[in-house]
Amino acid sequence: MWTERNNTHGIVLVAACCLAIGSTSGATAQGASASPAQITAMKSEYRRPAPRPIENKALVDLGRHLFWDSRISASGNSACVGCHFPYLGWAVTDQRSRNDSGKPTSRRAQPLIGAGYIAAPVGWDGRSASLEAQAKSSIATGSMSMRETDTPVKVEVIEERIRNIAEYRAMFHAALPNAPIDLDSIVKAIATYERTIEPGIAPFDRWIEGDESAISESAKRGFVLFNADANCFVCHGSWRFTDDKFHDIGTTTTDLGRGRELKNDEDMQFAFKTPTLRSVALRPPYMHNGSSIDLYEAVKHYEKPGIGRPSRSPLLVQISLTEQQRLDLVAFLQTLTGIPEGETQPQLPGKN
Ligand code: HEC
Ligand code: HEC
Repeated sequence: MWTERNNTHGIVLVAACCLAIGSTSGATAQGASASPAQITAMKSEYRRPAPRPIENKALVDLGRHLFWDSRISASGNSACVGCHFPYLGWAVTDQRSRNDSGKPTSRRAQPLIGAGYIAAPVGWDGRSASLEAQAKSSIATGSMSMRETDTPVKVEVIEERIRNIAEYRAMFHAALPNAPIDLDSIVKAIATYERTIEPGIAPFDRWIEGDESAISESAKRGFVLFNADANCFVCHGSWRFTDDKFHDIGTTTTDLGRGRELKNDEDMQFAFKTPTLRSVALRPPYMHNGSSIDLYEAVKHYEKPGIGRPSRSPLLVQISLTEQQRLDLVAFLQTLTGIPEGETQPQLPGKN
């Protein structure tokens, strides 16, 4: 199979992306199949944009506090940050997170790094239409709602709790002068904050900007593989390393993913949203179910891309990697970690 891609310089890259089973030629061990001009063209696809402008700083600041505040959960024990740790690429390293009632969530938490750029719908299965809708369902019906416990607390109780904190009242007034302090305002603030979560500058970004010493030769070979023989770029080819689309990549799972939402769409059964690979090294294990324990295993997944069911993406092709090439891909993925990444907890209103 051949894959074409236009890049900003108008050059068309044609990458021989897949090796037939039994092929003896093998991908070039050095990944040296790309010329300097081709590498320059590949690199131009990954230049990051300027950070998103911030329109309402007071609203962002309010959202930051609410994101860290467990008082917006029914039990008063769970905060968004508890499943989206800033220093882990805004995700977790558990295979499953624990929800308000102590039960493991059905899937691994998704990274919120670069959330301002996530194309809707959101969620592994795309069940929420926007960041606002996602936050609302977390609080009202999802993992923060105590839906499964004996002591459910209505959303009105949560709203009242926040309204009763004078400092919050002042912050809401500054951010949304005429709006009531209710769930809609709460999720508006949180979503606005989420949109400011920019990935930290990674060694990879410095390389893209021209610093040849920013990443190792191994990582550079990995980058070429990613964009050519290993065919990763067809789904992960942008500065955030995601196409924001849903694909079945053949993981062993009984979870229908996007197929739960789109029952009659055969291609969407077992399909999950392509995760960003920004700061991916910080948050093993990988995949919606944590089925790859580390980056090496995640790379190996694509050499034998799992279950060949009808929904499996046609974009997955047979690839064959040498041990050195696997390590090169891992070295490349490790250059995507922002330095530094994340931020620290703000001082929460009404707490010392
Ligand atoms: C108990 C753990 C837990 C808590 C608490 C939690 N999340 Fe999540 N989050 C998850 C899991 C698990 C997923 C994946 C959901 C799915 O698709 O099944 C997720 C997915 C998301 C997504 C989708 C990202 C994408 O790329 O599509 C966003 C946005 C998000 N969470 C924001 C929040 C916000 C905001 C809060 C607080 C209001 C919150 N989360 C609280 C575990 C949690
Ligand atoms: C057909 C589209 C597609 C192709 C091609 C593809 N990926 Fe993925 N990738 C995905 C999807 C979808 C997921 C999430 C799957 C899941 O959770 O079950 C994923 C998950 C990952 C993860 C785990 C990230 C995390 O946060 O859990 C890594 C690492 C990864 N891919 C790297 C690669 C590499 C390296 C290649 C090339 C060898 C590649 N991908 C090719 C779509 C693709």
